[in-house]
Amino acid sequence: MKRILVIIAGGRPNGNTSQLVDSFAKGAEESGNQIERISLLKTEVKGCLGCNACRYGKPCVQKDGFNELIPKIKSAGAIIFASPLYFWTISSRLKAFIERFYCIAEEDPAPPRGRYEKYPIKECALLMTSADDFFWTFEQAVSYYKFSLINYIGFRDKGILLAGGCGDPDGKPQIDKTNHLEEAYEFGKTFCEN
Ligand SMILES: Cc1cc2nc3c(=O)[nH]c(=O)nc-3n(C[C@H](O)[C@H](O)[C@H](O)COP(=O)(O)O)c2cc1C
Repeated sequence: MKRILVIIAGGRPNGNTSQLVDSFAKGAEESGNQIERISLLKTEVKGCLGCNACRYGKPCVQKDGFNELIPKIKSAGAIIFASPLYFWTISSRLKAFIERFYCIAEEDPAPPRGRYEKYPIKECALLMTSADDFFWTFEQAVSYYKFSLINYIGFRDKGILLAGGCGDPDGKPQIDKTNHLEEAYEFGKTFCEN
């Protein structure tokens, strides 16, 4: 059993991304895991101000939703990052959330090359939806996920689910017309197996 924190970084309340998350969560819960969903639409998290107060032992000067998320982040076994694709990358809400990891970094006397501090290391996965479905559609989003979360912070990647082709000219969510919900369910079901 794993405690899985799902960060839903925007998207419509019943849109493609939240449906993708629900299918993932259903599979993961059926396998005995405990899921907590956090919507960054409800729990607002602003980007880092770069004031460096946290580097002088002070709490983050930003008084927003991130403070209540810190204990949840620290106690989770895995964090799922779920976002719609906005202008070819992750949503600004997800970017702001990731920036705030700066204030939970700890001093590392012997950091690996290219990292300067220690972060709470978790397993993680990326769930994304988009309208288009070209081979390059998610390139920037996946690149950012790998650079920032896996290579830099040090999370252990458990998989990436890219649900392209969920758009429609009338703008309505179309993910139920694809096979991505089944893929997400299977991903959730097997998430803790490997
Ligand atoms: C501001 C904005 C920017 C978007 N940018 C892209 C994009 O660059 N590429 C793409 O394929 N779809 C893009 N889309 C479509 C969404 O990624 C897609 O419809 C997604 O599934 C919406 O998620 P939701 O239903 O959870 O709100 C964009 C949508 C919005 C609202």
